[in-house]
Amino acid sequence: MVKKNIMASMDIGTSNIRVIVGEINQDKTINIIGVGTSPSKGLRKGAIVDLDKTVQSIMEAVEEAERMINMEINSVFLGIVGTHITIINNCGVVAVSGEDKEITYEDVERVIQASRVIAMPPDREIIDIIPRQFIVDGYDGIRDPVGMVGVRLEVDAMIITGAITSIRNLMRCVNRSGLEIDGVVLNSLANAEVSLTDDQKELGVALIDIGGGTTEIAVFQQGGLRDVSVLPVGGDYITNDIAVGLRTTIEQAENLKVNHGKALVSMVDSEEEIEIKNVGGKGNKNVNEELLSSIIEPRVQEMFYLAREELEKMGYLKFLPAGIVLTGGVSLMKGVAELAEEVLESSVQVAQPEYIGVKSPIYSTGVGIIHYVQVSHMVPTSKKETRLVMPKFFERIKNWLLDIFD
Ligand SMILES: Nc1ncnc2c1ncn2[C@@H]1O[C@H](COP(=O)(O)OP(=O)(O)OP(=O)(O)O)[C@@H](O)[C@H]1O
Ligand SMILES: [Mg+2]
Repeated sequence: MVKKNIMASMDIGTSNIRVIVGEINQDKTINIIGVGTSPSKGLRKGAIVDLDKTVQSIMEAVEEAERMINMEINSVFLGIVGTHITIINNCGVVAVSGEDKEITYEDVERVIQASRVIAMPPDREIIDIIPRQFIVDGYDGIRDPVGMVGVRLEVDAMIITGAITSIRNLMRCVNRSGLEIDGVVLNSLANAEVSLTDDQKELGVALIDIGGGTTEIAVFQQGGLRDVSVLPVGGDYITNDIAVGLRTTIEQAENLKVNHGKALVSMVDSEEEIEIKNVGGKGNKNVNEELLSSIIEPRVQEMFYLAREELEKMGYLKFLPAGIVLTGGVSLMKGVAELAEEVLESSVQVAQPEYIGVKSPIYSTGVGIIHYVQVSHMVPTSKKETRLVMPKFFERIKNWLLDIFD
């Protein structure tokens, strides 16, 4: 839906499917004008297990957003979970083509194309190529070489690849819902766009997105993504523990968690008794917040121990001067940041994305996709290719922008 100045994003999560519609203003700020959410019924741990149910959920979310904006949504930018993602660093080198040796957009695009030549197993495809730095005649650390003069242009690029099958299944669901895909964006990159500051990304920070079925960990340093990893744990585990521990239904357990749950027993200050139904509807019983939190705390603690182990494996646990930022539904629970600080032995804060219209970390992936696409000025290369190109490297971005702002 790269039409005029409006675009839509879709975040297919384990708990919810969210469609966000953003309007880009003349000054390049973004207004969120439409939101559609539907419970996600066909996913487990971030992966599609039921195509039909996923299609159904997608359609519901899209319809809700359409009603809000009173307009049809034809295509979306799609968020991709980091489960089967690998990051490969590669270099590309080209000779600057012009007679005056001034570096042009075309030279930059050529060097990026040169960097994508990597040996890749047939079951993987390139999702995104992000230049870390350009090197002109040996001078490194250049972010934008266009207009500079040189003979030899090199790029040090990060190539993000994903497993074809999981991406294709996701895309198939979206297509089956009657939508085209404008492009795909790695969830963590999208999330970071609205949850992290440039300073945090420069210094070194881990962004942990705890959703319903997955915990996505992304590490940023020197301004860019360094590594990403996904753990198959999330808020659903907490709900399950509550249901089992209190012998109640999943639905009631979820309500208890969201409305009364605290991640630290020591934070409970209410002795209020909450009445719940027993499983099977036989009678009621009372629980208090202390009992509830005594079930929640060990599970959340375990999730952070797993995250800690993962950060250690990635080699970044001791190298995060800007600490850790939490996002996703579970980050809304009281006490989560405090518990994370204890386990991760680092400063932890909950992301407070600031964007007009929608204010909650649960929307950060969807809103982040729109920001990511806008900031990197991406447009789809062609209907057949999923990868987005960075048209700031093309003259044609000008036309696209003119199209948008006319
Ligand atoms: N206020 C709250 N307190 C505690 N937990 C919450 C709260 N709000 C939402 N959650 C939990 O957050 C989880 C959903 O988060 P989110 O919407 O970010 O997940 P998702 O993106 O659909 O899933 P995933 O990213 O794992 O595929 C659920 O487990 C839900 O119970
Ligand atoms: Mg999510």
